[in-house]
Amino acid sequence: MLRDDLTELCAVLLLLDASICPEKCDCSSKNAIHCSGPHLKDLESLNLPCNMTAIHITDTNVTYLQDVFSRMVELQHLILSSNNISLISPMAFKGLRRLKVLKLLDNKLVELPPEVFDDMVQLQQLIIENNRLKSVEENLFDKLATLEELFLNKNQLTALPSGVLKKLAKLKVLNLSRNYLAALPRNIFSPLTKLEKLMLYFNRLSSIESGMFDSLKELLELFLHSNNIQSIAPDAFHCLRKLRSLTLSRNKLEVLPPGLFLHLHDLSKLTLYRNPLKSLPEVLFGEMRHLGSLWLYHTKLSTIPDFVFSNLTNLELLVLSFNPELSVLPKNVFSGLNELRGLSLHTNNISSLPEGIFLSLQKLQNISLFDKRLEVLPRNLFHNLKHLQKVYLNSTKLQSLPGDFFTTLPELQEVFLDNNPWKCDCQILGFQEWLQKSMDIVKNVPSLLCHSPLALQNISLVALTVDHLKCLPTTAVTYQTFSSTYSQTSTSLVMEKQMVFFGRRCWGTF
Ligand SMILES: *[C@@H]1O[C@H](CO)[C@@H](O)[C@H](O)[C@H]1NC(C)=O
Ligand SMILES: *[C@@H]1O[C@H](CO)[C@@H](O)[C@H](O)[C@H]1NC(C)=O
Ligand SMILES: *[C@@H]1O[C@H](CO)[C@@H](O)[C@H](O)[C@H]1NC(C)=O
Ligand SMILES: *[C@@H]1O[C@H](CO)[C@@H](O)[C@H](O)[C@H]1NC(C)=O
Ligand SMILES: *[C@@H]1O[C@H](CO)[C@@H](O)[C@H](O)[C@H]1NC(C)=O
Ligand SMILES: *[C@@H]1O[C@H](CO)[C@@H](O)[C@H](O)[C@H]1NC(C)=O
Repeated sequence: MLRDDLTELCAVLLLLDASICPEKCDCSSKNAIHCSGPHLKDLESLNLPCNMTAIHITDTNVTYLQDVFSRMVELQHLILSSNNISLISPMAFKGLRRLKVLKLLDNKLVELPPEVFDDMVQLQQLIIENNRLKSVEENLFDKLATLEELFLNKNQLTALPSGVLKKLAKLKVLNLSRNYLAALPRNIFSPLTKLEKLMLYFNRLSSIESGMFDSLKELLELFLHSNNIQSIAPDAFHCLRKLRSLTLSRNKLEVLPPGLFLHLHDLSKLTLYRNPLKSLPEVLFGEMRHLGSLWLYHTKLSTIPDFVFSNLTNLELLVLSFNPELSVLPKNVFSGLNELRGLSLHTNNISSLPEGIFLSLQKLQNISLFDKRLEVLPRNLFHNLKHLQKVYLNSTKLQSLPGDFFTTLPELQEVFLDNNPWKCDCQILGFQEWLQKSMDIVKNVPSLLCHSPLALQNISLVALTVDHLKCLPTTAVTYQTFSSTYSQTSTSLVMEKQMVFFGRRCWGTF
């Protein structure tokens, strides 16, 4: 009965002249029709022509999707975005056997009739993004064997039936982000052997179980950030041999299982920041020749294991700032990072660094080390960093630096040293001499002020003279003797620390 009615409706329309375009619609392109505007409340009154290949109805006040599209057998693209649709008739899409694209995004759908998509045997893209779906029926997508992209993101899904994706063997993109998913059935992704992108970010997942992603041999991107993930099975990612992007930032991870990323050799993006990580396992990363940057900020790490980054041989940027508990970095922590260009180590809890910690970083260009707890640096810290351009050493507790701290760096362009409590005694003269010669690269030199002794407080460091300090003229000679003695013998750590502050021996009386 219904079927006959519809056939008749189309026939009537076919008799109309092609130039008749429904009011407020745009029919300027040949086989497509575009209608939009808030005045539009009822699609039936539009009398849409039946033989279009594309229909766009957007930004209207249509709330109910009746059967107006059924039997539009030519239809390939049906775009129904940004309307007010909250209800769809079970027959709304009957007969749309050639439909390739169906967009229902930005509507108010709470549920979908179980068989509503059953005729769309050629559908490639189904977009139901930004609705109010609370659940979907297990068999809703069963006839969509050709579907390549399914967007269910920005809905209110709390769970998914375990078989809901079972027929989507051609699916390449699945966007389930921005829902309330707290758990996923263990085998839900098993049929998706062609999947390339899986978006699960902004959900409430608390764990990633073993086997969950094992079938996804073609997966390139896996977005898991902004969930509540506390645990990940050690082998959760082991089958994702083609994975290029993995986001795990903004979760609740306190630990990562050993070897978690060992098999992800094609990874070029990995995010781990904003997790309450307390430690990293000694073996975490396998060889990853395409990983260019790694962000590890806002964690609770207090130290980082030696050699942990040593497989990241092409890493160019490593961000380890804003880790308020990070206080100990072992000597070999940056071992292997031969391509590193940028290192961010600021705003941690680091008071000193071990000698030789930057030895591998021959290509380093920029380093930020500002940290209010930083007190002492090894004298040779930068000596091998021939490409160093930019150094942030402002806002620390450093009272002095050796005169040759920066002198071996031919490419140095910008140095930030402000807001340090400079101790203006004879030991600082060597550094001050360098400063006077380096006014073009040191930023805001006039703001570098003596902090101690009291008598010299707030005097500009660069304006300091020997008269201020009453240093003995023999000072330099005395120091050099001491220095060469020092370098020939191996001395205790205490001595090494003291050396950092030595510029000249000082006989002043402050
Ligand atoms: C649709 O029908 C009209 C009127 O019969 C005709 O002029 C037009 O060419 C048809 N368009 C297509 C794509 O078949
Ligand atoms: C969902 O995934 C698709 C495919 O990558 C992407 O184009 C779209 O922007 C995503 N939507 C959201 C809200 O992330
Ligand atoms: C580096 O990767 C290899 C395999 O790719 C692995 O055997 C080794 O343990 C890794 N080393 C570290 C320090 O993670
Ligand atoms: C910073 O390190 C010191 C020891 O060097 C430690 O006493 C303090 O608790 C650390 N601060 C934080 C926030 O972990
Ligand atoms: C380092 O800083 C310099 C100077 O600001 C800039 O030109 C360069 O691009 C930076 N390099 C990296 C790797 O960030
Ligand atoms: C250090 O200097 C840089 C550049 O001026 C600035 O962005 C940064 O905030 C400073 N650090 C602190 C702790 O003030």
